[in-house]
Amino acid sequence: MTQNKNSIRILTGEGDLQYVQLTNNNGASVQIYLLGATVTSYKTEKGEDVIFQSSKAIFKDGKAIRGGIPICFPQFGPGTLPQHGFARNRLWQLKSTSATFNVVQAIFTLKDDEELRKLWNNRFEVEYLVSLHPKSLITELSVINKNSSETFTFTACLHTYFRIGSIHQTQVSPFKGLQFIDKVQGGKQFTSEENEVTFKGETDRIYLKASPSIKIEDKSANIQYQIETKGFTDCVVWNPWEIKAKETVDLGLDEWKNFVCAEAGTIGTPVLLKPGESWKSSQTISKL
Ligand code: BG6
Repeated sequence: MTQNKNSIRILTGEGDLQYVQLTNNNGASVQIYLLGATVTSYKTEKGEDVIFQSSKAIFKDGKAIRGGIPICFPQFGPGTLPQHGFARNRLWQLKSTSATFNVVQAIFTLKDDEELRKLWNNRFEVEYLVSLHPKSLITELSVINKNSSETFTFTACLHTYFRIGSIHQTQVSPFKGLQFIDKVQGGKQFTSEENEVTFKGETDRIYLKASPSIKIEDKSANIQYQIETKGFTDCVVWNPWEIKAKETVDLGLDEWKNFVCAEAGTIGTPVLLKPGESWKSSQTISKL
């Protein structure tokens, strides 16, 4: 009989914070900090890093980790709440873990409490499933409105930092014909004439009604990543470039060249949930 080598470990990491390490039978692995339920590492079975993590990331309760897959909820970007909402900088609970021969997974939860209700006066429960398959990582976000009578709305996003060899030789696609909001051009909306986004400066765009299948290609390192989404409607493409990167204290020198964010989100049209209703969306990422 073949020995099953998958494992689930709860460890103490940076800043004395706890994280869960899942290892698949084939050697692929993922780390998820309870802080923000942030995936900070995903390695293929060959040990290749798919996810970028800043060398200067700050691991401190109340602060978002720079890199990985921060969860933006219940607000993407700026607004009435702190930038990207509060989910990414709160401690989540580990609800359960499970493993079969091929799949190792963990579920994390975040619920309203007195402090959160002061920011966002709603009863809610968010569940985040991280599921490590032999050739892919699935992350699924579910939200339930637990209010007794009030509807709420939110935007959400899985702000994935993909590791690349060089932003100068990277492209993300397909976007031809899509409407996009260009934050670098003051939030003006345009129609994309190009199918691929290539990078020649700061890039910060929300592509609306994006394809459920996004590809990242980095010719410098011969890397291809695939993002398959279910439920999420939009895709954010972001790289800060040199000047913004220098202003970002928790980003290492020149590291902006080594990541691109392709973020599965529901942003353009916020989700509206009535009491008792739920919403679910997921992304599957894989290195081709
Ligand atoms: C992106 C936004 O998703 O996140 C950018 O579109 C923002 O506008 C970037 O600069 C990083 O945000 P933060 O809050 O993690 O520095």
